[in-house]
Amino acid sequence: MTPHRDFLTLRDFSPAELRALFALADRMRRGAYTARPLAGKAFAMLFMKSSTRTRVSFEVGAWQLGAHPIFLTPRDVQLGRGEPVKDTARVLDRMVDGLMIRTFAHAEVEEYAAASQVPVINGLTDLHHPCQILADLLTVQQHLGTFEGKCIAWIGDGNNMANSWCDAADLLGFELRLACPPGYDPDPAILARAQAGGRVTLVRDPREAVAGAHVVTTDVWASMGQEEEQAVRAAVFADFQVDAALMAAADPTAIFLHCLPAHRGEEVTAEVLEGPQSRIWDEAENRLHVQKAVMAALIGGESLG
Ligand code: CP
Ligand code: NVA
Repeated sequence: MTPHRDFLTLRDFSPAELRALFALADRMRRGAYTARPLAGKAFAMLFMKSSTRTRVSFEVGAWQLGAHPIFLTPRDVQLGRGEPVKDTARVLDRMVDGLMIRTFAHAEVEEYAAASQVPVINGLTDLHHPCQILADLLTVQQHLGTFEGKCIAWIGDGNNMANSWCDAADLLGFELRLACPPGYDPDPAILARAQAGGRVTLVRDPREAVAGAHVVTTDVWASMGQEEEQAVRAAVFADFQVDAALMAAADPTAIFLHCLPAHRGEEVTAEVLEGPQSRIWDEAENRLHVQKAVMAALIGGESLG
């Protein structure tokens, strides 16, 4: 088996490597990195769910690093007709140098990673969205100087984003306060592991979570694959909307983040989303820079040490 590294959750990088990734991504954003470590390579992107940001940022990023990106959906590949994941992985890795997957069950990306001899990158599963949290942390660093010593408030569903925030807080040692309604907590194992570090708390009142926080962030109430739960969830999450009053309870310098796509008038008001504290467009752009850093490191041999 050719030695390679995957990026399925934030825990696949050490804290020191995460900091090195942010430094590399920052150079990329500033235009100070012009190498093309993926020249002559191919990068496949397999999307079992829709995407705007992940698709375009990986495709443009791979191209900027010199690779040929290939966009695949179940309609284009035999997965849609029942070819097993482990067969697909073992065919793709004979032809490409890296593979990004967005799918439903997290076990599926683990299955790809186990079968593949080239790096596998998680572009979102039901359990994790590690690339987005890298971009979010880069945005915090860009606008607040650092995430060290900052307090992040997560409001709403204990979903894939919340789970990856738990991993990040545990690895990097910043304070994370989650406000989720009962029954919508983060994954119990991920939460328990993060809480063992002592910097992650779960509360039921959004005002308690945001009090003095430096970052307020939320996500849709019904994630991809939960569309039929939309009405039930809209009722459950009614008191978890991020509005101007909630933002006013945070630190005066606080920024607002949202991975997008957003539902104005549901999890966040248009006033906050479009307001002076919102950093959502930089956050979206940072997907490009930070994922280029990940690809350069895992596929292009760029050092993180
Ligand atoms: N934030 C995010 O992952 O966006 P897409 O679903 O558009 O890729
Ligand atoms: N939690 C959302 C994130 C979308 C980028 C979902 O999984 O649909």
